[in-house]
Amino acid sequence: MKWLSRLPVTEEIAGSNPVERAMKLLKKDPYGSFFFMYTKNTHKKEMTVMPSSVLHYAELTQEEITPQIISNLNHLQPQLTSKPLPLTHEYLDHLFKSGTRLFAAFDAERVVGVALLCKVVMLVGQKDWIEDVVVDSEYRRLGIASHLLDMIEEASRSCKPERQLNLTSKTTRNDALKMYGDRGYKIQDVVVLRKTF
Ligand SMILES: CC(C)(COP(=O)(O)OP(=O)(O)OC[C@H]1O[C@@H](n2cnc3c(N)ncnc32)[C@H](O)[C@@H]1OP(=O)(O)O)[C@@H](O)C(=O)NCCC(=O)NCCS
Repeated sequence: MKWLSRLPVTEEIAGSNPVERAMKLLKKDPYGSFFFMYTKNTHKKEMTVMPSSVLHYAELTQEEITPQIISNLNHLQPQLTSKPLPLTHEYLDHLFKSGTRLFAAFDAERVVGVALLCKVVMLVGQKDWIEDVVVDSEYRRLGIASHLLDMIEEASRSCKPERQLNLTSKTTRNDALKMYGDRGYKIQDVVVLRKTF
């Protein structure tokens, strides 16, 4: 990541919520809305400015998985689950072979967000599931998850127009539930049953 500039937090843009501070600063941005902003070091009272073009998105294939990507995914895992699975090349091979598609957001070479599109093929048809949506805590509220979901929805829609896209989320994940609700995902009249072995 190349930081374009570091701006001091003035009284006018101070506040407890880094996102609110960034949004206030964005309005004052001398460069215009071309730039995304967020707080890199709240304890240093510093705002960091980066160009939106720094972030890019791609669907990753098995062949494109590098040790750095695996390391980045392992950094994201604990932000998604309290019991992170240590990811390996072999495990990701297994994931791709199962038909799961992986969409990633990059800051330069680093994966800073990820989302999966998983397929379940049944006698009654095929269901697509969104899984493992996570954005690194330093990069949230920049529209990264939204962009990844756009990619997933497009990929699912282009395969078969009438297909449904499903997901599960913990009831405590308020940020995620707001995001999904705003995108038109509706709570279904079903229960999830689980037996743990
Ligand atoms: C949920 C998560 C993926 C959102 O990623 P993100 O890149 O910050 O999301 P976006 O910037 O695209 O935000 C999209 C919308 O979601 C909602 N949202 C996201 N974070 C929010 C927050 N902290 N508070 C309130 N709403 C929030 C907002 O409606 C937002 O739109 P807006 O910024 O225009 O208001 C991210 O917070 C995360 O990784 N959380 C931990 C893992 C997780 O809960 N994953 C979901 C599993 S189901």
